[in-house]
Amino acid sequence: MSVNKQSKAMFDLNRQMKFHLEITDKCNAACPMCGRTQQSNRCLPDMSKVKNIDLDLETIKRNFTPELCANILEIDLCGGLGDPLAARDCFSICEYFVDQGVKLILSTNAGLRSVDWWRSLGELFARDNSVVEFHIDGLADTNHLYRVNTRFTKIMANAAAYLETGSVGEWHFIPFQHNQHQINAALELSREMGFANFKVIDTIRFGKENAFGYQMPDGTLRSLKPADPQFIGAQAESADSSGVEEVITASDVIPGISCKSENENRPYIVATGAVSACCWVEGSEDERQMYLLAGQDHDDHNINDRLLSDILTEEPYVSMFAKAWASQSNPVCIRKCGHMRRSRRRVL
Ligand SMILES: C[S@@+](CC[C@H](N)C(=O)[O-])C[C@H]1O[C@@H](n2cnc3c(N)ncnc32)[C@H](O)[C@@H]1O
Ligand code: SF4
Ligand code: SF4
Repeated sequence: MSVNKQSKAMFDLNRQMKFHLEITDKCNAACPMCGRTQQSNRCLPDMSKVKNIDLDLETIKRNFTPELCANILEIDLCGGLGDPLAARDCFSICEYFVDQGVKLILSTNAGLRSVDWWRSLGELFARDNSVVEFHIDGLADTNHLYRVNTRFTKIMANAAAYLETGSVGEWHFIPFQHNQHQINAALELSREMGFANFKVIDTIRFGKENAFGYQMPDGTLRSLKPADPQFIGAQAESADSSGVEEVITASDVIPGISCKSENENRPYIVATGAVSACCWVEGSEDERQMYLLAGQDHDDHNINDRLLSDILTEEPYVSMFAKAWASQSNPVCIRKCGHMRRSRRRVL
């Protein structure tokens, strides 16, 4: 367990690595429960968080050198505030990584870009078995109720163009009360279209509440309601907890912490270029404390200004996090990697 490895740095560039990369914080959609969205204000973006910023190809190439890429197993193009397809250099960044032999897992609402663009992405991803996760929460009459501002017909045309190339696509579906009855129809459609997998994500963003109110862009007031568990679990074959969520359960027992990021050797980088330990800690009080104790300025840990390979071998990644795990002083780390309060994805 991590608490016994205090002398070892959190990230090891000589070992096989993974990365979680947010290449932009821009998005075409306005999902009410997303961190970028003001749910009570017509689902407009929260400009106190969103900077409308991209990582560009040059910055990626400078930091992800061929030498580093040779050690990278896979990169998740996902993030917390944006959709990778909204990044200006999305295709050329993907092309660069595939050329380097790095497998990509790209998460998107799939509402952006032309069918020709999607066909090209499919041809590119076929080269190294890279994967697109299509996050589609319903069918023609429901998907836009969560994936606000997207158009289902466009998403389907994009997905079809991608899948026709033979590349791997997964359909990820978040059930709510308004779309739970469509899980089976969406599963069938995904099989007809050639999706490799259909996964159901149990959202726990309701916390202890039974409803989540929001205002559509036209001013209409709506409310999301949790799905009935019987719809979600009915056909589950397996589950994992690789998502970014939190299950609210009460426990007074203080657990040991096994850091997912350290175990997977998987740092997180956001669209501003800031380096972080993981998407849970990014921007949190835990992270501020770690930098404070390390005497480091987080602003100096930015891949626009410094090299990633240097940043990852400096504090707080050398010993600060390990010390915090040992002394149980990081609440986010305790919740996520102690109590394992994370969402589950089930494969149907
Ligand atoms: C912020 S998004 C970034 C990637 C991309 N824009 C997308 O939506 O796939 C990161 C992840 O959050 C997921 N997500 C959005 N709303 C969610 C919710 N209510 N519960 C669980 N996951 C959610 C998305 O499906 C995606 O997997
Ligand atoms: S598509 Fe992704 S980034 Fe965009 S609003 Fe929805 S969850 Fe957030
Ligand atoms: S929450 Fe803390 S312990 Fe868990 S992956 Fe992030 S840094 Fe590691």
